[in-house]
Amino acid sequence: MTDIIVAPSILSSDFSKLGEEIKNLEKNGADWIHIDVMDGHFVPNITIGAPVVKSLRKVSKLPLDVHLMINSPEKYIKDFANAGADYITIHYESASHNTGNVIKMIKDCGIKAGLSIKPKTSPDVIKPYINDLDLILVMTVEPGFGGQKFMQNCAEKIKEIRKYSKDIIIEVDGGINEETAKICTNYGANALVAGNYIFSSNSIKEAITSLRQR
Ligand code: DX5
Ligand code: ZN
Repeated sequence: MTDIIVAPSILSSDFSKLGEEIKNLEKNGADWIHIDVMDGHFVPNITIGAPVVKSLRKVSKLPLDVHLMINSPEKYIKDFANAGADYITIHYESASHNTGNVIKMIKDCGIKAGLSIKPKTSPDVIKPYINDLDLILVMTVEPGFGGQKFMQNCAEKIKEIRKYSKDIIIEVDGGINEETAKICTNYGANALVAGNYIFSSNSIKEAITSLRQR
Protein backbone atom coordinates (compact mmCIF):
# COMPACT_ATOMS: atom_id res chain seq x y z
CA MET A 1 0.00 0.00 0.00
CA THR A 2 1.23 3.47 -0.91
CA ASP A 3 1.75 6.35 1.51
CA ILE A 4 -1.26 8.11 2.91
CA ILE A 5 -2.29 11.31 1.14
CA VAL A 6 -3.44 14.07 3.49
CA ALA A 7 -5.81 16.57 1.88
CA PRO A 8 -6.78 19.42 4.22
CA SER A 9 -10.21 20.88 3.44
CA ILE A 10 -10.13 24.67 3.13
CA LEU A 11 -13.78 24.79 4.19
CA SER A 12 -12.57 25.26 7.78
CA SER A 13 -9.94 27.87 6.89
CA ASP A 14 -10.17 31.67 7.15
CA PHE A 15 -11.54 32.74 3.75
CA SER A 16 -10.33 36.31 4.27
CA LYS A 17 -6.75 35.04 3.87
CA LEU A 18 -7.12 31.93 1.76
CA GLY A 19 -3.82 32.37 -0.09
CA GLU A 20 -1.84 32.47 3.15
CA GLU A 21 -3.78 29.52 4.56
CA ILE A 22 -2.85 27.41 1.55
CA LYS A 23 0.81 28.38 1.62
CA ASN A 24 0.80 27.46 5.29
CA LEU A 25 -0.73 24.03 4.58
CA GLU A 26 1.88 23.43 1.87
CA LYS A 27 4.71 24.40 4.22
CA ASN A 28 3.40 22.08 6.92
CA GLY A 29 3.19 18.89 4.91
CA ALA A 30 -0.19 18.82 3.14
CA ASP A 31 -0.17 16.58 0.06
CA TRP A 32 -3.25 17.98 -1.67
CA ILE A 33 -5.64 20.87 -1.13
CA HIS A 34 -9.28 19.70 -0.85
CA ILE A 35 -11.76 22.27 -2.18
CA ASP A 36 -15.45 21.83 -1.31
CA VAL A 37 -17.76 23.29 -3.94
CA MET A 38 -21.41 23.55 -2.79
CA ASP A 39 -24.33 25.01 -4.73
CA GLY A 40 -27.14 25.41 -2.18
CA HIS A 41 -29.20 22.78 -4.06
CA PHE A 42 -27.40 19.44 -3.94
CA VAL A 43 -26.41 20.41 -0.40
CA PRO A 44 -27.93 23.18 1.74
CA ASN A 45 -24.76 25.26 1.87
CA ILE A 46 -23.07 27.55 -0.71
CA THR A 47 -19.29 27.86 -0.87
CA ILE A 48 -16.96 28.69 -3.73
CA GLY A 49 -16.71 28.45 -7.52
CA ALA A 50 -14.15 28.13 -10.30
CA PRO A 51 -12.79 31.74 -10.08
CA VAL A 52 -11.57 31.01 -6.56
CA VAL A 53 -9.88 27.79 -7.74
CA LYS A 54 -8.18 29.81 -10.48
CA SER A 55 -6.75 32.24 -7.92
CA LEU A 56 -5.61 29.43 -5.64
CA ARG A 57 -3.86 27.72 -8.55
CA LYS A 58 -1.46 30.68 -8.63
CA VAL A 59 -0.37 30.37 -5.00
CA SER A 60 0.33 26.63 -4.72
CA LYS A 61 1.84 23.82 -6.72
CA LEU A 62 -0.01 21.17 -4.70
CA PRO A 63 -2.64 19.10 -6.49
CA LEU A 64 -6.06 20.76 -6.18
CA ASP A 65 -8.66 18.17 -5.22
CA VAL A 66 -12.04 19.61 -6.17
CA HIS A 67 -15.10 17.98 -4.58
CA LEU A 68 -18.23 19.01 -6.47
CA MET A 69 -21.35 18.89 -4.31
CA ILE A 70 -23.54 20.40 -7.01
CA ASN A 71 -26.43 19.49 -9.29
CA SER A 72 -25.74 19.19 -13.04
CA PRO A 73 -21.97 18.81 -12.59
CA GLU A 74 -21.57 18.41 -16.38
CA LYS A 75 -22.17 22.16 -16.77
CA TYR A 76 -19.12 23.07 -14.71
CA ILE A 77 -16.43 20.45 -15.45
CA LYS A 78 -14.61 22.55 -18.05
CA ASP A 79 -14.66 25.65 -15.83
CA PHE A 80 -13.02 23.81 -12.95
CA ALA A 81 -10.53 22.01 -15.21
CA ASN A 82 -9.54 25.30 -16.87
CA ALA A 83 -9.23 26.90 -13.44
CA GLY A 84 -6.50 24.38 -12.61
CA ALA A 85 -8.15 21.47 -10.81
CA ASP A 86 -6.01 18.29 -10.80
CA TYR A 87 -8.78 16.02 -9.51
CA ILE A 88 -12.50 16.58 -9.99
CA THR A 89 -14.83 14.39 -7.95
CA ILE A 90 -18.55 14.30 -8.69
CA HIS A 91 -21.32 12.73 -6.65
CA TYR A 92 -23.05 9.62 -7.92
CA GLU A 93 -26.29 11.04 -6.47
CA SER A 94 -26.07 14.22 -8.56
CA ALA A 95 -25.09 12.66 -11.89
CA SER A 96 -26.75 9.18 -11.67
CA HIS A 97 -27.83 8.24 -15.23
CA ASN A 98 -25.18 10.59 -16.66
CA THR A 99 -22.32 9.42 -14.44
CA GLY A 100 -20.32 7.68 -17.20
CA ASN A 101 -20.49 10.73 -19.47
CA VAL A 102 -19.43 13.15 -16.78
CA ILE A 103 -16.47 10.94 -15.83
CA LYS A 104 -15.48 10.93 -19.49
CA MET A 105 -15.78 14.73 -19.64
CA ILE A 106 -13.36 15.02 -16.74
CA LYS A 107 -10.88 12.59 -18.30
CA ASP A 108 -11.13 14.38 -21.66
CA CYS A 109 -9.88 17.52 -19.89
CA GLY A 110 -6.68 15.59 -19.14
CA ILE A 111 -7.21 15.47 -15.37
CA LYS A 112 -8.10 12.81 -12.80
CA ALA A 113 -11.66 11.76 -12.12
CA GLY A 114 -13.30 10.82 -8.83
CA LEU A 115 -16.73 9.51 -7.83
CA SER A 116 -18.21 10.13 -4.39
CA ILE A 117 -21.01 8.38 -2.52
CA LYS A 118 -23.12 9.86 0.28
CA PRO A 119 -23.69 7.94 3.55
CA LYS A 120 -26.86 6.17 2.39
CA THR A 121 -25.54 5.13 -1.04
CA SER A 122 -24.38 1.55 -1.55
CA PRO A 123 -20.84 0.98 -2.79
CA ASP A 124 -22.29 -1.29 -5.52
CA VAL A 125 -23.12 1.75 -7.67
CA ILE A 126 -19.41 2.39 -8.18
CA LYS A 127 -18.66 -0.96 -9.83
CA PRO A 128 -19.64 -0.12 -13.44
CA TYR A 129 -17.25 2.87 -13.44
CA ILE A 130 -14.32 1.50 -11.48
CA ASN A 131 -11.99 1.11 -14.48
CA ASP A 132 -12.56 4.70 -15.63
CA LEU A 133 -11.90 6.30 -12.27
CA ASP A 134 -8.77 7.46 -10.44
CA LEU A 135 -10.42 7.99 -7.07
CA ILE A 136 -13.42 7.03 -4.96
CA LEU A 137 -14.51 9.47 -2.25
CA VAL A 138 -16.41 7.87 0.61
CA MET A 139 -18.42 10.38 2.64
CA THR A 140 -18.46 9.66 6.37
CA VAL A 141 -20.84 12.57 7.10
CA GLU A 142 -23.80 13.96 5.15
CA PRO A 143 -22.13 16.42 2.77
CA GLY A 144 -22.77 20.12 3.33
CA PHE A 145 -20.86 21.23 6.41
CA GLY A 146 -17.52 20.82 8.15
CA GLY A 147 -17.15 19.78 11.77
CA GLN A 148 -19.67 16.91 11.84
CA LYS A 149 -19.35 13.57 13.62
CA PHE A 150 -17.70 10.64 11.81
CA MET A 151 -20.10 7.80 10.87
CA GLN A 152 -18.20 4.54 11.23
CA ASN A 153 -20.81 2.44 9.40
CA CYS A 154 -20.07 4.54 6.28
CA ALA A 155 -16.35 3.93 6.60
CA GLU A 156 -17.01 0.18 6.50
CA LYS A 157 -17.87 0.60 2.81
CA ILE A 158 -14.15 1.18 2.20
CA LYS A 159 -13.49 -2.54 2.78
CA GLU A 160 -15.92 -3.48 0.02
CA ILE A 161 -14.61 -0.86 -2.42
CA ARG A 162 -11.02 -1.97 -1.83
CA LYS A 163 -12.08 -5.41 -3.12
CA TYR A 164 -13.06 -3.82 -6.45
CA SER A 165 -9.57 -2.39 -7.01
CA LYS A 166 -6.30 -2.60 -5.14
CA ASP A 167 -4.79 0.39 -6.95
CA ILE A 168 -7.51 3.03 -6.94
CA ILE A 169 -7.22 5.93 -4.49
CA ILE A 170 -9.88 5.60 -1.80
CA GLU A 171 -10.36 8.95 -0.10
CA VAL A 172 -12.53 9.51 2.96
CA ASP A 173 -14.20 12.77 3.94
CA GLY A 174 -16.04 13.85 7.09
CA GLY A 175 -15.11 13.82 10.77
CA ILE A 176 -11.55 12.68 10.19
CA ASN A 177 -9.16 13.03 13.14
CA GLU A 178 -6.21 11.03 14.48
CA GLU A 179 -8.47 8.17 15.68
CA THR A 180 -10.95 7.96 12.82
CA ALA A 181 -8.11 8.21 10.29
CA LYS A 182 -6.69 4.92 11.62
CA ILE A 183 -10.06 3.21 11.29
CA CYS A 184 -10.26 4.30 7.65
CA THR A 185 -6.71 3.39 6.68
CA ASN A 186 -7.17 -0.04 8.30
CA TYR A 187 -10.19 -0.54 6.07
CA GLY A 188 -8.06 0.33 3.03
CA ALA A 189 -8.37 4.10 2.53
CA ASN A 190 -5.22 5.88 1.36
CA ALA A 191 -6.33 9.52 1.17
CA LEU A 192 -7.79 11.50 4.07
CA VAL A 193 -9.67 14.79 3.93
CA ALA A 194 -9.68 16.77 7.16
CA GLY A 195 -11.01 20.25 7.83
CA ASN A 196 -12.00 20.93 11.40
CA TYR A 197 -9.33 18.66 12.91
CA ILE A 198 -6.47 20.42 11.11
CA PHE A 199 -7.69 24.00 11.39
CA SER A 200 -8.67 23.79 15.06
CA SER A 201 -5.34 22.23 16.09
CA ASN A 202 -2.54 24.18 17.74
CA SER A 203 -0.04 22.88 15.19
CA ILE A 204 -1.05 22.21 11.61
CA LYS A 205 2.17 20.28 11.12
CA GLU A 206 1.51 17.93 14.03
CA ALA A 207 -2.11 17.45 13.01
CA ILE A 208 -1.12 16.48 9.48
CA THR A 209 1.62 14.16 10.75
CA SER A 210 -0.77 12.48 13.19
CA LEU A 211 -3.08 11.55 10.33
CA ARG A 212 -0.32 9.62 8.62
CA GLN A 213 0.17 7.18 11.53
CA ARG A 214 -1.31 3.81 10.72
C1 DX5 B 1 -18.36 18.15 3.88
C2 DX5 B 1 -17.09 18.38 3.10
C3 DX5 B 1 -15.85 18.10 3.83
C4 DX5 B 1 -15.62 18.91 5.07
C5 DX5 B 1 -14.87 18.03 6.02
O1 DX5 B 1 -19.44 18.25 3.03
O2 DX5 B 1 -17.08 17.58 1.93
O3 DX5 B 1 -14.71 18.14 2.99
O4 DX5 B 1 -14.91 20.09 4.87
O5 DX5 B 1 -14.81 18.70 7.22
P1 DX5 B 1 -14.44 17.99 8.60
O6 DX5 B 1 -13.09 17.38 8.43
O7 DX5 B 1 -14.46 19.15 9.53
O8 DX5 B 1 -15.52 16.96 8.88
ZN1 ZN C 1 -15.15 17.41 0.73
